[in-house]
Amino acid sequence: MKINNIDYRTIWPDPANRQIIKIIDQRHLPHRLVIEDLRTVDDFARAIGEMHVRGAGLIGATAGFAMYSAILGADPDNVDKVLREAAEKLIATRPTATNLAWAVNRQLGAVEKGSDLAAQTGIIFENAMRIADEDAEFCRRLGEHGLEIIRDISRKKPGEPVNILTHCNAGWLAFVDYGSATAPIYAAHREGIKVHVWVDETRPWLQGAKLTAWELNEEGVPHTLIADNTGGHLMQHRMVDLVIVGTDRTTYTGDVANKIGTYLKALAAKDNQIPFYVALPSSTFDWQIRDGVREIPIEERSGEEIKRVTGLSESGRIETVAIAPATTETANYAFDVTPARLITGLITERGVCGASEEEILALYPEKRREGR
Ligand code: MRU
Repeated sequence: MKINNIDYRTIWPDPANRQIIKIIDQRHLPHRLVIEDLRTVDDFARAIGEMHVRGAGLIGATAGFAMYSAILGADPDNVDKVLREAAEKLIATRPTATNLAWAVNRQLGAVEKGSDLAAQTGIIFENAMRIADEDAEFCRRLGEHGLEIIRDISRKKPGEPVNILTHCNAGWLAFVDYGSATAPIYAAHREGIKVHVWVDETRPWLQGAKLTAWELNEEGVPHTLIADNTGGHLMQHRMVDLVIVGTDRTTYTGDVANKIGTYLKALAAKDNQIPFYVALPSSTFDWQIRDGVREIPIEERSGEEIKRVTGLSESGRIETVAIAPATTETANYAFDVTPARLITGLITERGVCGASEEEILALYPEKRREGR
């Protein structure tokens, strides 16, 4: 996608030295574009844990490159140990996003094919690139499938915009490119379909206000920022045609973990008969977990994220201010689970399906054969 008309991805190897991996440090958006160099596994673990990078697909792609940085610090006698330690460290950084363990395990599997350290290093780099390229390509494809849904709604209200509500940032910043929830929106906008996006600010980290609004602005997509509690009111007044959100982990039975607050939007959508879609590349499916509400681990983050707000002051400085009494207790659950029964459909790189075991496995029959 473009920033100031220049094409960017969210992660890429330095063309002058591929041992350095470059990322957009998202903590500084929308006010500053900061590119950060990552060199060591600790750099990567910090970047994921402290959310310089975030979002399901991008966390996975970053973990892929992190395993490459790990093998660069190994010698032939300790490759296995170095990679296992790196894997453990990385997987512990963000427990909910399934792409993280998925990418790490993919690297651990790939490296077994190399006969010596040089071959293994080459394989692991190529595989990191493949993970990143696939993420971008799958998002592009799911955008094409989601476009059909927007097109259908647009046909029913000629001349009027399709109003889409989204939560958090499942945009290109959450992936390597295109995004999941935003991919159909970008595809529709490029095709000339009138769209308008209601952007939930997404407390406490404000991914909606800081990132989704910035992305849509850069792409020229009409949008309106709303406080998190506004969606229900808009839905009651028929000001939302469609909800599209992303997901950090989706069970093979169709339960969806996404940023905290998603469940409430799904309830409001159901009550108002508004279609509620979840967009995801297949790397976000968890093929082991059956009951999302009971089994998906929900990350709890520091209460400081709730008690403080960071932004641009009137004097042009980035400042963090307290907004709650210093001694007040907090609970900062980063995700919630929307049960499959509230979801109209899943938009994947292979097409759109219902949020049910039967329909998901019909789209991914090899998972049935693998016994998941
Ligand atoms: O905590 P984050 O920002 O890493 O959370 C991830 C998200 O941005 C959302 O939950 C998103 O909707 C799904 S990830 C594509």
